[in-house]
Amino acid sequence: MDRDGRPDDRRPRGHGGRCDRRRRYRPPSDTGEALDLGASHLTLTIGFGPSLFDDRFGLAHLRPTALEDLPHFPADNLDPTRGGGDIAVQACADDPQVAVHAIRNLARVAFGTASVRWSQLGFGRTSSTSTSQTTPRNLFGFKDGTNNLKAEDPAALDRSVWIAPPDDQPWLGGGTYLVARRIRMLIEQWDRAVLGEQEAVIGRDKREGAPLGKTHEFDELDLESNGPDGPFIPTTAHVRLASAQHLGGIEILRRGYNFTDGSDGFGHLDAGLFFIAFCRDPLTQFVPMQLALARSDALNEYIQHVGSAVFACPPGPGENEYWGQTLFEA
Ligand code: HEM
Repeated sequence: MDRDGRPDDRRPRGHGGRCDRRRRYRPPSDTGEALDLGASHLTLTIGFGPSLFDDRFGLAHLRPTALEDLPHFPADNLDPTRGGGDIAVQACADDPQVAVHAIRNLARVAFGTASVRWSQLGFGRTSSTSTSQTTPRNLFGFKDGTNNLKAEDPAALDRSVWIAPPDDQPWLGGGTYLVARRIRMLIEQWDRAVLGEQEAVIGRDKREGAPLGKTHEFDELDLESNGPDGPFIPTTAHVRLASAQHLGGIEILRRGYNFTDGSDGFGHLDAGLFFIAFCRDPLTQFVPMQLALARSDALNEYIQHVGSAVFACPPGPGENEYWGQTLFEA
């Protein structure tokens, strides 16, 4: 970029000195596709995968004990080219062009040191994470995030999301774990299921998002009450099996995105949920939750987990600090 924020190659030809002429024969220092766009609330989240702590970089002694590859869950159909990785970079922005710009330029400056193993572009958001947001709907058309942890409940975030310094490696204190699962949603199959089946699978009504047997979206999830045919919320309903009541108090922060990646060559959309969750310890939170779902969730007939990864995210850098400084200078 020049002093006015323009990329070097936009300087008028024939102007400037020898130095400017030389710049024209180098790739521009910025790829340019976001030059006329604002920051669009761009945020970056960085995480380190279990493989970063193998014997390549001398970091093995700093591996957090909870940072392990996730186990194989029943019905997983994982594509190894869509999982794992040493470093995760998540870019979120109101405009996807800005988010892609950030990833593209970080990958570009890393050329020769790191390369992109896999990536996923998502859109919308599938879970609300603040009481100020209207609950969005996922690609199955259900409200998602109703019973999620919310930014307005810092005590719950301290309990279930943020890693306290004594939990594990000191460099990770104040950070969190990011679990990513690429979950294919069998859209066409779901769209042929009758409304009663869809609602029984989730355990909530589709229009309002209320727990079955209740009226309003934020009515309490009541797992005990029975209707004429048994429990209002069926024993295999997604919300029952994933609920804190069912799992002895376990909670996670869900913050995923929808994706569509064209079609699969058999006339079906390759679409789904790029599930992202943040938690304080994946081994005692995400793993038992996903195990309960993988074993019995009625939703399994309509979804398939095809990608998986886990990363330890250090706290965000302070003024004049770099990402991961607490790890690399530990
Ligand atoms: C494509 C896959 C999935 C779909 C379509 C889906 C959809 C939903 C929907 C519609 C709700 C109800 C609204 C809400 O409270 O947010 C819900 C709740 C929930 N889901 Fe999922 N979900 C999926 C995968 C997962 C996975 C993989 C996990 C964790 C391992 C998970 C954990 C939860 C939790 C903890 C709740 C709240 C349960 C409660 O009421 O306490 N979901 N999900």
